[in-house]
Amino acid sequence: MEIFVVPTAAATGSVAAGILAAVIRSKPGAVLGLATGGSPLPIYKALAGHSVDMSGVSGFALDEYVGLPIGHPESYAEVIRREVTERLHLDPARVAVPDGSAADPGRAAADYEAAIAAAGGIDVQILGIGHNGHLAFNEPGSALDSRTRVEVLTERTRAANARYFSTPAEVPLRCITQGLGTIMEARHLLLVVNGADKAAILAAALNGPVSAGCPASVLQRHPHVTVVADEAAASQLA
Ligand code: F6R
Repeated sequence: MEIFVVPTAAATGSVAAGILAAVIRSKPGAVLGLATGGSPLPIYKALAGHSVDMSGVSGFALDEYVGLPIGHPESYAEVIRREVTERLHLDPARVAVPDGSAADPGRAAADYEAAIAAAGGIDVQILGIGHNGHLAFNEPGSALDSRTRVEVLTERTRAANARYFSTPAEVPLRCITQGLGTIMEARHLLLVVNGADKAAILAAALNGPVSAGCPASVLQRHPHVTVVADEAAASQLA
């Protein structure tokens, strides 16, 4: 595991974007795993400043809420459209997001898992970490070998994400998330972490025991992990 500690959240974006740009230059058909939430936004902004040919790149979002109407501005499909495909001039047809409005979300999750496999797997998976240690929306207790599936969001996660909605009650109760086993099959994991509020959970994930109680601890078992953290988030690392 390599860990880069940089002064600011913007700098995490520059470092991570540099890593992604190098991957895309060496593999123009790279498959990216795309996180949403606040942590990766500086990456997408910084990557837009690199002159890399994105025409062969494809992507898979990590997760999506279940039950938001199509086009809801906080659905991850819309966030990915605004922050990733438009900003990076990526062909939207090459970027998949789990179908959170499917009549059968369980089936949609299984189809998504199959689509990742059919694409040959993910080259670089961008990740953030939740305050409770979740990776994607694999909440504490998720099996370390879990696959893409429907998950129930914890109250803590719903409260953290309420900042994006007009009222906390609007945050969906369920999601479709790539599983921890799915994420672990990506060839390179790129975790980006910002802020003092993430310091304790980042230290637990990287220095504590590997356990389903802290899903992000599974990163310790992956052969190629890059962590990019700002100084505040890295302040409790051993
Ligand atoms: C987002 C995702 C989540 C977030 C995590 C941290 O696609 O899967 O695991 O990465 O909740 O969110 P932020 O970055 O907003 O603190």
